[in-house]
Amino acid sequence: MERVSEHLSHHKGNTFVNRWTSPEYLDSLQNFQIRDSDLFLVTYPKSGTIWTQQILISICELSGDLNEYSNNLEQMPWLEHRGTRPDYALRPSPRLFTSHLLPALMPPGLKDKKAKIIYVMRNPKDNVVSYYHFSKILAGLENPNSFEEFLEQYLAGNVGDSSWFDHIRLWRSVHDQYNILYLTYEEMIQDLRREVVKICNFLGKVVSDADVDKVVEKSTFGMMKKDSKANYKFLPENILSGDFMRKGRIGDWKNTFTVAQSERVDRILEERLGDMNLQFIWE
Ligand code: A3P
Repeated sequence: MERVSEHLSHHKGNTFVNRWTSPEYLDSLQNFQIRDSDLFLVTYPKSGTIWTQQILISICELSGDLNEYSNNLEQMPWLEHRGTRPDYALRPSPRLFTSHLLPALMPPGLKDKKAKIIYVMRNPKDNVVSYYHFSKILAGLENPNSFEEFLEQYLAGNVGDSSWFDHIRLWRSVHDQYNILYLTYEEMIQDLRREVVKICNFLGKVVSDADVDKVVEKSTFGMMKKDSKANYKFLPENILSGDFMRKGRIGDWKNTFTVAQSERVDRILEERLGDMNLQFIWE
């Protein structure tokens, strides 16, 4: 382990937030027993994680086989967060988990390709703006002095959960090793219903049109903002001093980026991921 700053450390290629986990805990996940019925949501931070949690929980609730927990964090906890977590081995199936980890740190049992993973990507310009604002309100993250400064750290990968560019490359490169569905934040914004149907198909759930409508309705920005199980307002003020549900749009980056910053990100994107044929929706 190498300490990067007061808030961050590196461990096996992963940059993690000291407040939430430790190298020992991350290593212990190599012995984490995966069940065939497990469902994992994997994202880089600020890519629509809590949104997708709400969609997945709403879909799984339809069949009535989901155990009830007091909120979406309890229902779908971050795999890598140590500390007050319950013993997941005692949880009834199906178990739902969230993670921001890179593939190498995930439990090896996922490679049996029975348990499912949903991976959500968001364009890096909206992603970094969202992350910048979030860094000011979540305990454990360094409060940036300016967007300019945060962008430098982000591009260098010196932020919690590593470099966005590495995250995308590494998770896209392992598509044949996992049972994985790739989604994007932008396509969820453009047609949430279509994406919900896509997820239902991937999960092997036969869901009526009316039930799809229900899931969509529960997962809109407006509904989630009011839904105390889903919006993370249940976290104490000393952990989260603002709102997860900030703007929820594509293209907000234009209000923050300079032309030079935007061109620089375009250049780095081309250099680092240009060979991957990824399509981005910027507005
Ligand atoms: P913004 O900060 O751009 O508003 P994560 O859950 O990965 O931390 O991502 C948070 C981002 O997802 C925030 O983006 C938040 O507003 C957005 N988000 C959360 N729920 C959403 C929803 N139902 N529809 C659209 N965006 C949503």
